[in-house]
Amino acid sequence: MRLIILGPPGAGKGTQSSQIVDKYNVAHISTGDILRENIANGTELGKKAKSYMDEGKLVPDEIILGLMEDKLTSDEAKDGFLLDGFPRNTLQAVSLDAMLDKNDMKIDKVININVDPEVLISRATSRRVCPECGETYNLLSKAPKVDGICDNDGAELIIRSDDTKETVSKRINVYNEQTKPLIDYYKAQGTLFDVDGSKSIDDVTDEIFKGIKS
Ligand code: AP5
Repeated sequence: MRLIILGPPGAGKGTQSSQIVDKYNVAHISTGDILRENIANGTELGKKAKSYMDEGKLVPDEIILGLMEDKLTSDEAKDGFLLDGFPRNTLQAVSLDAMLDKNDMKIDKVININVDPEVLISRATSRRVCPECGETYNLLSKAPKVDGICDNDGAELIIRSDDTKETVSKRINVYNEQTKPLIDYYKAQGTLFDVDGSKSIDDVTDEIFKGIKS
């Protein structure tokens, strides 16, 4: 199974990805997670990406495409994958198609999560993340058992540096200008289905599982 999950910042892509990869036993390839890991480890890639991410802009295509070519042909991806945060513009989508063609692969389904912009800002600004295990919490909808502490490993939760109200608004604008056109791109390929992301986390998961099966 090869899947893509699309949706604006804070729509729930990461949250739903965890459920999907557990059920379908595929690799979760999240460009945002890969970039944040590189920033945390102080790599050259992380240094190049950080300023773009903190400003809510897309990281340049040449950086992302080099990274993805390696990932898609890695051992990790050989039994299927879920792409989260990639592709992010038309050039990335066309390049992805070329990489897939070259390796005799195709995308089975594209999940498109829809959520209203006001909800997105509230979700992203109330998000908290565990720096150790990557678990995502939310002060409004998925609070940890102990305030500020990860349920899994006791680490102190952090706020992502791009989760300020101002940067989230910029990221939503970038999404509308550059990523949203991919909805029509994948509709034309006949692989995309829509999901109402304003429902509860479990209801959204159910809708996604039904869409993948259909
Ligand atoms: P990335 O990490 O991909 O961020 P994003 O697309 O902006 O998405 P988010 O991670 O903010 O949100 P999400 O949809 O995963 O929501 P989540 O599940 O956490 O990218 C970050 C940056 O990296 C980009 O701005 C860019 O600079 C760069 N980048 C990445 N990929 C790139 C690429 N391909 N090209 C160029 N640059 C790239 O949920 C959000 C919150 O809501 C959580 O607190 C969660 O608990 C809660 N929540 C989730 N679902 C629900 C629900 N149904 N009800 C209530 N609360 C919910």
